[in-house]
Amino acid sequence: MALLEARAIDVVYTPADRAPVRAVRTTSLIVDSGELVGLVGESGCGKSTLGLALIRMLRPPAHQTGGIILFDGVDVTQLRGEQLRHQRHQGFALVPQSGMNALNPVRSVKGHFTDILRAHERIGRAEIRQRAVQLLGKVGLDSTVLDRYPHELSGGMRQRVAIALVLALDPRLIVFDEPTTALDVIVQAGVIATIRQLQQEEGFSALVISHDLGLVVGATDRVVVMYAGQIVEDQSSERLLRHPRHPYTQALLRCYADPRADEVHLEGIVGSPPDLSTPTAGCLFAPRCPLAEEICWKSDPQLSPVGDGQVACHMAQRTGRGHARVG
Ligand SMILES: Nc1ncnc2c1ncn2[C@@H]1O[C@H](COP(=O)(O)OP(=O)(O)O)[C@@H](O)[C@H]1O
Ligand SMILES: [Mg+2]
Repeated sequence: MALLEARAIDVVYTPADRAPVRAVRTTSLIVDSGELVGLVGESGCGKSTLGLALIRMLRPPAHQTGGIILFDGVDVTQLRGEQLRHQRHQGFALVPQSGMNALNPVRSVKGHFTDILRAHERIGRAEIRQRAVQLLGKVGLDSTVLDRYPHELSGGMRQRVAIALVLALDPRLIVFDEPTTALDVIVQAGVIATIRQLQQEEGFSALVISHDLGLVVGATDRVVVMYAGQIVEDQSSERLLRHPRHPYTQALLRCYADPRADEVHLEGIVGSPPDLSTPTAGCLFAPRCPLAEEICWKSDPQLSPVGDGQVACHMAQRTGRGHARVG
């Protein structure tokens, strides 16, 4: 059952000093109850913007200019002020990009738990400690971190603390924005495995945003691939690994991203993503696509069912059950 259903979301950045940027373009996405979905694509393609839009956490100069978001069947797009705060506390949570920034450098770990637990209920010190220890246990940390400050923790530990803090709110949907970027490879795998395990134990739904398809595909139920502000492919992780349909997904799977890099480098795919502030016609990937034909330059491919998933590619749709193959 759909926990979150976003229909035709548009998000525009309107910076004071530059042209508006259409960061998310008429994008629809469903996240089912208890589902772990990966959201992947190159840096700047709109992943964070879409993730924040889904949980109503966009801040100016970002504005949602179109679309609706149903959470548990209720349209949350119109919620403001107190209603929105209530919805956030009862439903959504964000583990922001970079665990370090998620934590206040002058507050101990215990202090963070105190703030988050006291914001929502009257609760005494002994109980805060007890709850904090229990939550830390869920992410593989023990009570020795309670008196420590963020700079005294490793990157992986900070990310785990950030996750434990979010669990304190018992959210139904968690957006993890690049939860492993800036961590080393072994630690990355550990954090992803912890997210997977927690999701199965706690039953929340989650969107895991990452530029590293290789890291996410093995730990998620489904993967959504974004390119230039749009979803170009949406498939079960298992099938996406075996039968990627969009030429862009195929390129992402072939490229071995340096896990320490914040960007992926597409081997064998020339060019770079389009400037999202200029209007374009046709498929936005066409200038880099080895399969592009005349139709690709003229008409914008819609995300349509192909096999068990969805793909926005004229060539993949034409081949129906088969799939576009590059190289
Ligand atoms: N504050 C901002 N002002 C103007 N443009 C922005 C701002 N933040 C992001 N963008 C633009 O929006 C697009 C999507 O950004 P983002 O969602 O952060 O991408 P991703 O998370 O995939 O790296 C990018 O082209 C970026 O330049
Ligand atoms: Mg981002």
